[in-house]
Amino acid sequence: MDSDRLSRLDLKTPCYLIDRGRIEENCRLLARVRERTGCRVLLALKAFAAFSLFPLIRKHLDGVCASGLYEARLGREEFGAEVHTHAPAFVPEQFGEIARLSDFVVFNSVSQLERFRADAERENCVLGLRVNPGYSEVETALYNPCAPGSRLGVRAAALAGADLPGVSGLHFHALCEQGADVLERVLARVEARFGHLLERMEWLNLGGGHHVTRPGYDVDLLCRLIDRVRERYRLQVYIEPGEAVALNAGWLAATVLDTVDAGGMAIAILDTSAETHMPDVLAMPYRPQVLGAGGPGELPHTFRLAGNTCLAGDVIGDYSFPRPLEPGDRLFFTDMAHYTMVKNTTFNGAPLPSIAVLHPGGRVEVVRRFSYEDFRNRLS
Ligand SMILES: Cc1ncc(COP(=O)(O)O)c(C=O)c1O
Repeated sequence: MDSDRLSRLDLKTPCYLIDRGRIEENCRLLARVRERTGCRVLLALKAFAAFSLFPLIRKHLDGVCASGLYEARLGREEFGAEVHTHAPAFVPEQFGEIARLSDFVVFNSVSQLERFRADAERENCVLGLRVNPGYSEVETALYNPCAPGSRLGVRAAALAGADLPGVSGLHFHALCEQGADVLERVLARVEARFGHLLERMEWLNLGGGHHVTRPGYDVDLLCRLIDRVRERYRLQVYIEPGEAVALNAGWLAATVLDTVDAGGMAIAILDTSAETHMPDVLAMPYRPQVLGAGGPGELPHTFRLAGNTCLAGDVIGDYSFPRPLEPGDRLFFTDMAHYTMVKNTTFNGAPLPSIAVLHPGGRVEVVRRFSYEDFRNRLS
């Protein structure tokens, strides 16, 4: 939808607007991978957990992967299909409940496996072990699960001679917004280092980071890789994408509150912020697109878009517009459905953006509004 049509929607900002049609398109593409290869596809809740969309997603995918107790519970109660839970370490007091809620539990170390195996087996969980392939092509260290010194997954050397009682599958996660070509190279390392274990496993989870729904992604190669590993080791393959499910499937709507001149730089202060509502802009860092705007200097009026918090660096980026921005102008940041709602903070008492769904056909349904109580109740 273009910015003119979006601007005419009656939205109180800040607001995440989820594009239901696009979520469904993304899920249909992932379902085609599932149909072609027999692999099972899980939604990574850490990326996208707006559960009002779960009934739609469940039509196409097999279940969810959870990062601990709360996501496992959300998956069990709201998604209602397979729940796979993995955490760098499980909290002992929570593990019984995690095991009750989960179909699969994936341990991050042999010591965790030994500690919790009996509890997991009592709840009939399928057990897995996360391995670290020791190879990745993720350039940003913050997002690289295989960076030197990473705590994520057991290295091959640590498994020499290991028996792994009860474990029927391996899991690795080594990609971040990457193509099937990278998966091919990672998979080669996994086979070289863990192939002897795969021989006796029943399933292999290829983790997330597969950018399947991005234009130009080589779906055929992904399918070939899945087919090959499935046939070679005779196992069930899983993938657990998060971002690919919600890629380009939502906007963050914001309003200009004020414009100021900072010694020659025009700044627009918004009723949203990178720090609170789009944290990856600062963490990664990356530059979101704004509908109808260009890069700095491309259109006649360049503005720095900045957040309404005390953080000096709470800057989204520099953008240009056909006319000068004014208080009250509405802006739409694109691709804001994943890793946003799940990561928000209320720093400076910033209100959480409401969550709305844009239905195919144009109807907007506000599914959640937040209030002062949501801020207050976390603090004492
Ligand atoms: C273990 C695991 N699985 C799946 C994912 C989902 O990754 P993405 O959203 O990039 O597909 C992540 C992301 O960090 C992860 O750590």
